Amino acid sequence: MSACAPQAAPPAVTAAPSVAVPPPPPPSGPLATETEYLGWKYFQVYCARCHGEDALGSLAAPDLTYALSPEGGVTRDSFAIVVRNGTTSKEMQGFARLLDDSLIGAIFAYVEARSQGRLARGRPTRAPI
Ligand code: HEC
Repeated sequence: MSACAPQAAPPAVTAAPSVAVPPPPPPSGPLATETEYLGWKYFQVYCARCHGEDALGSLAAPDLTYALSPEGGVTRDSFAIVVRNGTTSKEMQGFARLLDDSLIGAIFAYVEARSQGRLARGRPTRAPI
């Protein structure tokens, strides 16, 4: 057999049998806006260690879903002031050097959505862009 003998033709490539892949289940519960999702991320970084992963509070700090309810009385403005400057007790320090007003607004949007029961516990599902 010569070194240059033609090779046998490779077997014809046949298409893989088509398998119907079911679409992923739709997310249960409402979708987070981009702002709420951003707020959730920053909440995890700066707030969750005291206020709990889902803003429900811990032994270290109060439940922010209650704080933002009508009974809690925290408004968008008072929230921003506390987050910028910290609490008068200084148990919570201010975040003015770490968070600008738009990020504080995003964190507020996340906590407000949790407080109103629009976002469930855990990682929110983002609305498609
Ligand atoms: C080191 C722990 C700690 C961290 C981190 C922390 N907090 Fe706090 N926060 C507290 C404590 C403790 C209080 C209550 C203090 C008091 O009443 O004197 C508080 C109070 C608050 C209040 C006022 C609640 C009310 O009912 O008046 C808001 C709003 C708040 N925190 C938001 C945040 C946000 C947003 C973050 C993240 C950017 C954050 N906190 C990070 C400990 C913390």
